[in-house]
Amino acid sequence: MNSVKVGLLGLGTVGGGTVSVLKRNAKEIERRAGRGIVVTHAAARDLRRVRNCDLAGIQLTDDPFAVVNNPDVDVVVELIGGTLAARELVSKAIANGKHVVTANKALIAKHGNELFAQAQAKGVMVAFEAAVAGGIPVIKAIREGLAGNRIEWLAGIINGTGNFILSEMRDKGRDFADVLAEAQRLGYAEADPTFDVEGIDAAHKLTILASIAFGIPLQFDRIYTEGISKITAEDVNYAEELGYRIKHLGIARRTEQGVELRVHPTLIPYRRLIANVDGVMNAVLVKGDAVGPTLYYGAGAGAEPTASAVVADLVDVVRALTADPENRVPHLAFQPDALADIPILPMSEVETAYYLRMEAEDRPGVLADVTRILADAGISIEAIIQKEQAPEAQHVPVIMLTHRMRERQMNEAIQRIEALGSINGAVTRIRVEYLNKN
Ligand code: NDP
Ligand code: HSE
Repeated sequence: MNSVKVGLLGLGTVGGGTVSVLKRNAKEIERRAGRGIVVTHAAARDLRRVRNCDLAGIQLTDDPFAVVNNPDVDVVVELIGGTLAARELVSKAIANGKHVVTANKALIAKHGNELFAQAQAKGVMVAFEAAVAGGIPVIKAIREGLAGNRIEWLAGIINGTGNFILSEMRDKGRDFADVLAEAQRLGYAEADPTFDVEGIDAAHKLTILASIAFGIPLQFDRIYTEGISKITAEDVNYAEELGYRIKHLGIARRTEQGVELRVHPTLIPYRRLIANVDGVMNAVLVKGDAVGPTLYYGAGAGAEPTASAVVADLVDVVRALTADPENRVPHLAFQPDALADIPILPMSEVETAYYLRMEAEDRPGVLADVTRILADAGISIEAIIQKEQAPEAQHVPVIMLTHRMRERQMNEAIQRIEALGSINGAVTRIRVEYLNKN
């Protein structure tokens, strides 16, 4: 049987990795897919640039539409990133009746609803395993492996760059900017690295995970998002003293009132496996009602780990080429006409425990004022540490862990604490999750 011809859009980190893996493992891949899979055409912006892969046998162009419109191309693999050109190219590929594989989480999170509807109407597939958690096959695990479960919640370290930065800062005391520059050199970071450090990339991925877990439409604009750029070495150290690690988590939870969708730094008890996921590694914890908690771990970014997911999607597409489109695994795990309109909860309605750090005057009555405000709001304190006053310092750091409380009440209490004359500046608040069975 003839090989399936792939048109590749983008020859950067992931594009280069995809060419290499397809070439190196060609025989093994053919044994799995039942047909060879070869890249015949590829597009990049700068055709003079030296690439990290062997381009022999690939027709190159700087016009990606020439690839998408080429009748010889069976499957288009979109690896250019962004949502402008990529959206137009993917839409055009679908209109041309071509299956699409993409690693572009921004595209899927923001325009997936419309692209999937278009693909459904044309009877083609849009596969996106590489869009979430790099090489970890977590989309397939949730969409297929956990199909018998009612998913209750999931929580994941889903940005490799952010986890690499937090790990290097904690373990080696390295500077934030210096580690970010290294992540960029290694090809982990997004074209705009504020997407990594401000949680936008994680929010794109959480949008996708929540849809396939709960059967809801993609709703990127409803996610509460906080990044890691304000995490200080002090907070990392105090968290360790209290027996916790700070991780940047994406959390989606189904409650009776609606769905929580949030990305923020989180204290996790250090004994949890996920608290020990370091460097560029990602992990996603998924709790199903039948299976209980399950954990998926692996490289969250980088050329070949991501290519591993892209190639797996290509194999899936090739295997499904002859299948009846009605009988394929639905894009968002649930049948398109069975997606549920469950409300997304505003952050003010979310309940978590909290780590609070404040700079307080070291005199009698100050702590009593703070604890009274918390008690008035119904917030109970689990632990409290007052550090020694540094020589010359006017204030001492006070660190508290609270029990679970609704965010709205915590916001009000923090406002009142910050208004006390004895408290210097803003109160640092980091949410705490225990990630146990419930
Ligand atoms: P790179 O910046 O390394 O590569 C992008 C490629 O696209 C480059 O080859 C670039 O050409 C080409 N390109 C950009 N715009 C155009 C255009 N208009 N026409 C033709 N070619 C174009 O990005 P990555 O490989 O890192 O990322 C690609 C996608 O994969 C993104 O969506 C990203 O979010 C996603 N992803 C990335 C991961 C990673 O670890 N890097 C992991 C998981 C997903 P040129 O080289 O000539 O500039
Ligand atoms: N920039 C992303 C990350 C790439 O660091 O996780 C993988 O999606």
